[in-house]
Amino acid sequence: MEKKWWHDKVAYQIYPKSFLDTNGDGIGDLRGIINKLDYLKELGIDIVWISPVYCSPLVDQGYDISDYYNIDPRFGTMEDMDELLREAKKRDIHILMDLVVNHCSDQHEWFQKALKDPDGEYGKYFYIREGKDGNPPCNWRSYFGGSAWEPIPGTDKYYLHLFAKEQPDLNWENPKVRREIYKMINWWLDKGLAGFRIDAIINIKKDLRFRDFPADRPDGLCSCFVMLAESGGPGEFLRELKKETFDRYDAFTAGELFNYKEEDLPDYIGADGYFSTIFDFSSETAGGSEKGWYDRRKISPDEYRDILYRVQHITEGMGFMANIIENHDEPRGVSRYLPEGECTEDAKKMLATVMMMLRGLPFIYQGQEIGMTNCAFPSIEDIDDINSRDEYQVAVQAGCSKEEALKAIERYSRDNCRTPFQWSAEENAGFTSGKPWLMVNPNYTQINAGQQMSEEDSVLSHYKRLIRLRKSEEYKEVVVYGSFRAVYTAEKNLIAFLRKGEEKTLLILANFQKEGRILPWGSELKKVLINNKKQLDVQEDKIFLEGYQAVVLEICLE
Ligand code: GLC
Ligand code: CA
Repeated sequence: MEKKWWHDKVAYQIYPKSFLDTNGDGIGDLRGIINKLDYLKELGIDIVWISPVYCSPLVDQGYDISDYYNIDPRFGTMEDMDELLREAKKRDIHILMDLVVNHCSDQHEWFQKALKDPDGEYGKYFYIREGKDGNPPCNWRSYFGGSAWEPIPGTDKYYLHLFAKEQPDLNWENPKVRREIYKMINWWLDKGLAGFRIDAIINIKKDLRFRDFPADRPDGLCSCFVMLAESGGPGEFLRELKKETFDRYDAFTAGELFNYKEEDLPDYIGADGYFSTIFDFSSETAGGSEKGWYDRRKISPDEYRDILYRVQHITEGMGFMANIIENHDEPRGVSRYLPEGECTEDAKKMLATVMMMLRGLPFIYQGQEIGMTNCAFPSIEDIDDINSRDEYQVAVQAGCSKEEALKAIERYSRDNCRTPFQWSAEENAGFTSGKPWLMVNPNYTQINAGQQMSEEDSVLSHYKRLIRLRKSEEYKEVVVYGSFRAVYTAEKNLIAFLRKGEEKTLLILANFQKEGRILPWGSELKKVLINNKKQLDVQEDKIFLEGYQAVVLEICLE
C-alpha cells in the first residue's frame, strides 16, 4: 500500500456545542476549542474533526446549514475560525470540518427561493415532485420519522427530505448544484483545512423512479435504505467530487456511510478510493431492528469481537477504516459494549486497548478518553435530540409503557454523547459558567479530565500510553501497518490478535469478562508494552489474565 501522510495519525472528534463554553451562554464555542488545543496536543491528537459550526437554525444541531460560508454566531466568528486554524497549525494539528451536502437547511436562501418558485431555477436545486391523489409522491420514510415528503404550501407539490423536514435534500443530479458545492469546498480548503468528515454521503444518489416499496412498519412507509439499495449508488458523483476538490489539495476525507455494498468497499477506501477512509459502523449497527430503538438488542462480547475481526479481514491490504467506539450519533461505547454493571475503569481501558490496536485510523470522540458514560435522563423532556424524540414516539406507539420507552431511548439516545464534556468536578463539570444547553451527566464529580490528568492509572493516562505507543519510532510501523491475525479463536469472551510488522510482532490480549482465565502459552515474551493491571503472570506454558485485563505484548514468533 502506498503510504499517505495521515496513516499514522490519531484523530479526535469535537462536538463543539458540548465541548467548552467560554462566554457563559451555555453553548460550547470555537474559543473553547482554541483553549483546549494544548490538552489535545498533550493527549497526542493530530487530526481534529469539528462537527458543524456553520450558520444553522440547529434543528439537527448544525447538520442543517443555512449558510456554508459563515460561522454561526453561537459558535463564534470567522475570525475565531481563522485563529483556530492558525493555532492548530502551530501545534501540527490538522483541522477537518463537517461537510453536510446531502441536504441544507430550509432556511438556506436556495430553499427559500425554491419555495417561492418551485418551477424556477432554484426549484431544481431540490427534489420537488407532484403528489399522488393528495398523497406524497411515494412512501419513503425519513430517518427522523414520518414521510420523507413535505407539502409545499399553496401547491400540489412536495419536496424530499430524507432527514427532518427542515433539511431539504439537495439535487445532486443538477450540475449547477454540484458546481456550487465544489466551489464551497474549495473555498474552505483554500483557507487551510486539512479536509472533511463527510456527512450522510450515501444518500446523495436517489432512486429517481420515486416509487413505493413494500411497507416495513404499521405506518405504511418504507425505510429509505431500500430505495438507496436500488439507486445505483453515488459512485459517479463521488468520483467527480474527489477530482474537483479533494484531489487538488491532497485533502484527508472520512466518509460517513452506512449500508454500502461490501463489494464496493475498494471503490471507497482502496488505492484510488473516493475517500481516504470511512467509518466502521459495523458494531454500532449490529443488534439494530427495523422496528425502532425499542427493539434493539445489546451485542455480546463474542459478537463484538467477530464483527471487528471481519472488518479487519475485508480491509486487509486494501485500505484503512476509521475505528470508533462512539460518536455524536451513538450512545457511549463503554455503556453500550460492556455488560451491564461491568463498566469499570479496567473494562473501559480494555475497550480502549482493542480499539487503538486494531488496524485502521482511530477516531476518539470527545470524552471517550476519560471514559464518559451514558446519562440517566430523568424524563423525555431532558432529551433534546430530534431523532431520540421520534424514537420515543415510535416506542410508545408500538405499545411500550412510558417507562419502557424512556429506558430504550436512554440506552440509545444520541444525547448520551452530547452531554457537556466533563472537565472538572466544579459546577457544570467546568463546561460553562452559565446554564448548559443540555444536562450535565451527574457522574462528573467522579469522571472528569481534571482528576484524571494527575492520575497515572486513569483512563485518560491509559489512552495517552496507547497513543504514545502508536507514535513511537520503535513500534509505529507495526501498529500502523502490521497485518492482523486472530488467535485463540476458540476462546469465549476473549479478543486476541497479532499485529505483525516488518520487524516486530505484537500480541493483543483482552479478557472480555469479569472472571480471570488461563491461556496456553508458547511464545517468547520480549516486552509488556501496555497493561491495564499492575501485573501479568506469564509462565513457561501458560499465561494468566485477570478479569478485564488487557495487554499489548511484544513477542518473538518462531
Ligand atoms: C449524519 C450526522 C447526524 C445528522 C445526519 C443528518 O448522520 O452524523 O448527526 O443528524 O447526518 O445530517
Ligand atoms: Ca458559548
